[in-house]
Amino acid sequence: MSENSGIGNGFVPSGQLQFGVFFQGVNSGTVWKAAESGSQTDFESFRHLAQTAERGLFAAFFLGEGLRLREHLGRPHALDVAGRPDAQTMLAALAAVTNKIGLVATQNTTYNDPAHLAHRLASLDLLSGGRAAWNIVTTDNAWTGENFRRGGYLDHADRYRHAEAFVETAKLVWDSWEPDAIASSETAPAWLAPGAVRPVGHKGQHYSVDYAPRLPASGQHRPILFQAGDSPEGRDFAARQADVIFSAHPALEAALTFRRDIVARTVNAGRGPNDVQIMPASEFILGATAKEAAEKKAWVRSLQIGPQQAIAYLEQFWGRELSAYDPDGPLPDIDPVVAETSETRGSGFHGAKARQLADQWRAEALDKGLSIRQFVSSRTSRVDATFSGSYTEVADKLAGYAATGAVDGFNISPWLVPTGLDEIVNHLVPELQARGVYPTEYAGSTLREHLGLPVPRRADAGPSNGGGETDGGGETAADVRLELAARSLHL
Ligand SMILES: Cc1cc2nc3c(=O)[nH]c(=O)nc-3n(C[C@H](O)[C@H](O)[C@H](O)COP(=O)(O)O)c2cc1C
Repeated sequence: MSENSGIGNGFVPSGQLQFGVFFQGVNSGTVWKAAESGSQTDFESFRHLAQTAERGLFAAFFLGEGLRLREHLGRPHALDVAGRPDAQTMLAALAAVTNKIGLVATQNTTYNDPAHLAHRLASLDLLSGGRAAWNIVTTDNAWTGENFRRGGYLDHADRYRHAEAFVETAKLVWDSWEPDAIASSETAPAWLAPGAVRPVGHKGQHYSVDYAPRLPASGQHRPILFQAGDSPEGRDFAARQADVIFSAHPALEAALTFRRDIVARTVNAGRGPNDVQIMPASEFILGATAKEAAEKKAWVRSLQIGPQQAIAYLEQFWGRELSAYDPDGPLPDIDPVVAETSETRGSGFHGAKARQLADQWRAEALDKGLSIRQFVSSRTSRVDATFSGSYTEVADKLAGYAATGAVDGFNISPWLVPTGLDEIVNHLVPELQARGVYPTEYAGSTLREHLGLPVPRRADAGPSNGGGETDGGGETAADVRLELAARSLHL
């Protein structure tokens, strides 16, 4: 592939795509009412999806994290994700029934602690033979904090400062064992060479760590770092820290704009233009013919946005009970009772003026002749993320993505559990392979190898990546590294 991609900053498209699968749990993207739908919580569903993905040479099996269900007007939010077993527990079980596929656990930096989370992820990485990844999120809601002893919700900028120091500390944990730390001969005086493990220390506003890491590096050195968070702070954070972004920009023009932005930020952070890969969220509704796919899409949508989901969606913005309104009738004529939609309730329109939004939406629905349900169906984020058509049409479209370098692949949310990947693997993957844009075998045995990512430099050796939480006079992650250079642990 030439550099003439139009992305700039020296970015070179790989011309290839990778797939991940994002098992969602029950939300408004999952068709749980269909006769074909199986259990959302039985291990067998997860096993079927992970093994199908592996048969289709997917790079990664991906789990999200939601530590508390949203509530709205005193009830669990009808659009929210339920039925998610703990990600790391599930991925550990899947490691035993898969051989190659990467295992990505979404875990937040706001309510976890770095040494503990780094140890748990290192455990998954070791037991899976170097297939673990961490999708770093900061979690944008206050009600999750109410679930935790410390309570507490950090403001946006603070969440990312905290995240930066958290990740820097986790890297120090993963990089703490010298490669030859464990004795290789029975005549060695100790199982662990003296001084071969460096302790990790950090003192900051939100956590303190004084820790002797307990595990050696895995076959891929350390877990792969994904990131999901779209603000300028989130993007800069990804540019400094991530290997892969789980993005919210699947539509081609938006994906290209996002790629340009990320490449510029990555280069600005002192990294190479191709150092951060991008895999947007996506949904595939396919058929043998375009007509079959269109009919299936209409059926899927009718089950995804049922009457309750349509009303619940609008209630987020109106801030009031709307159950008296007919989902197949026009948008509510009453006005929202809140001035602004609230970030802390997880709406996708942070800070939008609710009244203005309601006026705009009523006019749009009237103009297009849409009922509440039809309008909501046309608004949800899946609209941009859906690839629908015959297998060959969709394969041609994806090959176009590969040529532009807009993305490195797609993180696919199956709308049906557990068989939602079957037709993708049976029909779309061969079409992509025939076009030369999709792997025909796994590149190696670790996730790092599948994604073609280099082994990172050890965290104590490099220059500061910036960031770092301070407590006014407290140390930054860079200070931690300097201190570590002067210390070693004798076990
Ligand atoms: C594609 C995508 C997936 C996400 N998945 C999760 C998740 O599983 N759990 C979670 O707590 N937050 C998730 N987030 C939200 C992030 O944690 C972040 O808090 C949120 O996007 C706000 O940060 P931002 O302002 O930088 O976007 C996700 C965000 C994106 C864009």
